[in-house]
Amino acid sequence: MIQTLPTPAILIDGEKVRANLARLAGYCKEHDLNLRPHTKTHKSSFFARLQLEYGATGLTIAKVGEAQVMATVCNDLFMAYPAVDPLRGRELAQLAHTHTIRVGIDSKEAADNLSHFAQASSSTIGILVDLDVGLHRTGTQFPADALALAQHVSSLPHLRLDGLMFYPGHIPSPSSPTQGAAISAVKELLSQTLDLFDKHSLPHPILSGGSTPTMYQSHLFQPFITEIRPGTYIFNDMNTVYAGLCTIHDCAARIISTVISTAVANQFVLDAGTKTLTSDRCGPAPDSGHGHILEYPLAKIVKLTEEHAQVDCSLSPTRPSPGDRVTLIPNHICPCVNLQDYVYYQSNPDSPPGPLHVEGRGKVF
Ligand SMILES: Cc1ncc(COP(=O)(O)O)c(C=O)c1O
Repeated sequence: MIQTLPTPAILIDGEKVRANLARLAGYCKEHDLNLRPHTKTHKSSFFARLQLEYGATGLTIAKVGEAQVMATVCNDLFMAYPAVDPLRGRELAQLAHTHTIRVGIDSKEAADNLSHFAQASSSTIGILVDLDVGLHRTGTQFPADALALAQHVSSLPHLRLDGLMFYPGHIPSPSSPTQGAAISAVKELLSQTLDLFDKHSLPHPILSGGSTPTMYQSHLFQPFITEIRPGTYIFNDMNTVYAGLCTIHDCAARIISTVISTAVANQFVLDAGTKTLTSDRCGPAPDSGHGHILEYPLAKIVKLTEEHAQVDCSLSPTRPSPGDRVTLIPNHICPCVNLQDYVYYQSNPDSPPGPLHVEGRGKVF
């Protein structure tokens, strides 16, 4: 089957996708958590529909372009990304006519911007105040700052304060001895912030959190957390494998690549460089190379240039020939998908893979 695809190509195993979706859906059901998957991983309405079929209550996006794609299959969208500029404000306010639109923000400027455009288009935008719980990327810095922003949001027309969001991207996987302490620290911060909201009679029906590395520990953020937003879990990658969250078997997205040269001793070269695999290292195993080759597990992808992957096969007992095909698991699947116009989806081992348009690909606005 993989012999017929134009390489490099992303091949997606439908059975593994469904198994990944079913596993997390079961966990969320067991713990009474809403699931709002981040669609930046697949950027496609096909996989979004599957996530909704497996119990997702809404979808997360980072980009207005993704919102427009996901709006075709879901009417409850959360933009977990601060929309501070007029162009994003205008587009989101327009979408809010027909869809429930929420945005996570950490500044008064973003609130003013969204209020202005929602008023201009006679729509209402829900707001989750972004709280920095340790990643130090975005988010109000202290509970008192979150309160001040929530009060500001409440005073503005055409905005509806819906609660809080946080992204625990600094929290390592369950295999790390520090995960428990990191979760407890976040929980304390959430508790202090929600206490302040309560004291000032500010509503917080939604507390949105979650990431792939913490997905099966999300219940430890209860009773505060109401929904989680993992993205990578639908496909998995070497980051999630080395983090101990899954096995290679659970990686649903694989890159089929052709061996284009074996001219240099102890090396073979693949047609998948940074424009396919990206430069992302594996977070939990930074020295593991630029991905894993299923057929040559002892070979290491040591160097990438735009269109070439150089593989050191000195430790490998077997070697490929030019023209052979190999199967790669990338370190980080999300940016790889964003580099492809189409991925190839195989719903079961007996059916041929068919092209699936990645509609949100390249939509960076
Ligand atoms: C704000 C936000 N929420 C959720 C996610 C999804 O997390 P993960 O990549 O761990 O699946 C991300 C990932 O970048 C994010 O930035």
